[in-house]
Amino acid sequence: MCGIVGYIGTKQAAPIILDGLSRLEYRGYDSAGMAVFDGKKIDIQKSAGRLKILENLTRGGESMPGVCGIGHTRWATHGAPSDANAHPHFNKAETIAVVHNGIIENYLQLRKKLTGKGYQFVSETDTEVLAHLLDYYYRGNPLETVTKVLHRVEGSYALGIMFADCPDQIFAARKDSPLIVGENEDGCFIASDVPAILKYTRKVYYVDNHEVVRLRADHMHFYTVDEEEIEKEAVTIDWDANAAEKAGYEHFMLKEMYEQPKTISDTLTPRVKGKDVVIEELNMTDDELREIKKLHIVACGSAYHAGMTGKYVLEGLARIPVEVDLASEFRYRDPILEEGAMVIVISQSGETADTLAALREAKSRGFRVLGIVNVVGSSIAREADNVMYTWAGPEIAVATTKAYSAQLIALYLLAMKLGKARGKISDKLFASLLTDLRRLPDQIELLLNNKLRIQKFANRYIGAKDIFFIGRGIDYAISLEGSLKLKEISYIHSEAYAAGELKHGTISLIEEGTLVAAVSTQPDLYAKTISNMVEVKARGAFVLAVTCEGNKEIEKAADYVIYIPETNPYFANSLAIIPLQLFGYYVAVGKGCDVDKPRNLAKSVTVE
Ligand code: F6R
Repeated sequence: MCGIVGYIGTKQAAPIILDGLSRLEYRGYDSAGMAVFDGKKIDIQKSAGRLKILENLTRGGESMPGVCGIGHTRWATHGAPSDANAHPHFNKAETIAVVHNGIIENYLQLRKKLTGKGYQFVSETDTEVLAHLLDYYYRGNPLETVTKVLHRVEGSYALGIMFADCPDQIFAARKDSPLIVGENEDGCFIASDVPAILKYTRKVYYVDNHEVVRLRADHMHFYTVDEEEIEKEAVTIDWDANAAEKAGYEHFMLKEMYEQPKTISDTLTPRVKGKDVVIEELNMTDDELREIKKLHIVACGSAYHAGMTGKYVLEGLARIPVEVDLASEFRYRDPILEEGAMVIVISQSGETADTLAALREAKSRGFRVLGIVNVVGSSIAREADNVMYTWAGPEIAVATTKAYSAQLIALYLLAMKLGKARGKISDKLFASLLTDLRRLPDQIELLLNNKLRIQKFANRYIGAKDIFFIGRGIDYAISLEGSLKLKEISYIHSEAYAAGELKHGTISLIEEGTLVAAVSTQPDLYAKTISNMVEVKARGAFVLAVTCEGNKEIEKAADYVIYIPETNPYFANSLAIIPLQLFGYYVAVGKGCDVDKPRNLAKSVTVE
């Protein structure tokens, strides 16, 4: 939610900031702005709408001279997307500029106090209080002013701040919103996320909570909020810079779907040693694994859907009871965590506010938390007791595909490891599970190569009003994700139902021609799902079935069938989700939707 970028160095700042913002647009894209010190004063240009408008306004940054600046791309929380609410925000004298990602929770109190002191507000944002508060405390020492303000604000923030009378420095600060700083021979950078500055440097520092950074053209210094200087270690980012580019694909989402075979191999291969699964990051002995009494999986959105599949696989293979919770519910429901329980949080970004809060809740009660995380160095990765990384690389499209697929693999591996340690999986079954896991990348490749058939089918549903997804067990978890993929990018109303549940109310929405996608990959449940398909067909539905090769029986009940290759039923999600991702994608493309940046969304949800 919101992306910030800053630069101070020897090059013109505005084009660098615009370039960085273009790689952060996934974090929010309803308005954008930049502040640059032009040699005499701070110039701010900002506009509601996509970054493209700001690029045109500033001729790609050319019209804003200066080597020091900050920029922002917004996902609105306080105040509608408008020019006035776009960041950066100024104090009245236009000598202090601020960009902010996060929420200042006590902004109303601060606003009242500042208004009482004669300050006037020109926006509805919580961020503007920071600009005026900085002004209120400023006596010529910017570091002292920044720390004073930080002591008075509550909430979350990643900040970029500049002072007109100290144009040789910019400031960054962080609490609970992601922030990195980086350096190269030409200058120093601030960014919400690595892709923003990957083109310029691989040497970055992860800013921790309650830390302040003073950046100059040739060096930076780190401080606590009490102004004590601290030492930090640089991290070298080894991502392939091309990973954050479209590489000839029409959309990031399509590219990322095509990266799934590699993502799966990258998540799997380092953890398969000979005939065994070795998860060193778990740092637990087999005895400790045997002592786990219960697992709580906590996540949001697609990561939650991966967790739902994880429940079926972990319970099935390791015979451990698993509870799955939405992080936004878990954190406030005073969950009962009994001795011997372990918590698993799943997050691509590692920054989702609710998931992070759930992690902290579990840790504060003394429970071990395992994070399944994609972004290295993210808040969840740093705060979890143990981290299993999903090696999916940067995921840019707002709708997740490859990170979700990698989360599934991490959960399968965990289930196999636990199942073996607890004596619930025979050697024979373990070996056959490993064989099936290793086949997944090639099988996914095959399914992706079938995209034209799915595109043709998807084109028929561009005008659809409602589309339903049904399935039982793991197929229900797949249906939830298939439905989310479709609706979030195509804006077609869609719901996913446990196949047996539809008739308890929702079936009344089925009309002549309504598309119902029935997922049926679990042989034990084939007959049951067929009954549910027949029920909706009898009420006029057109039934699309996604099932396993060999399940010819389904053709009697379905109008259109997509077959997935044979695999162990526990791993079927990894295959069945591919045609559903492609379906959602092609419906959205057919409708002319902005696939990579769907309306109202942002990739990294750092507000609760
Ligand atoms: C949907 C999607 C979201 C995320 C959710 C959690 O395509 O991407 O539902 O899965 O916002 O995000 P992370 O995994 O970053 O915690």
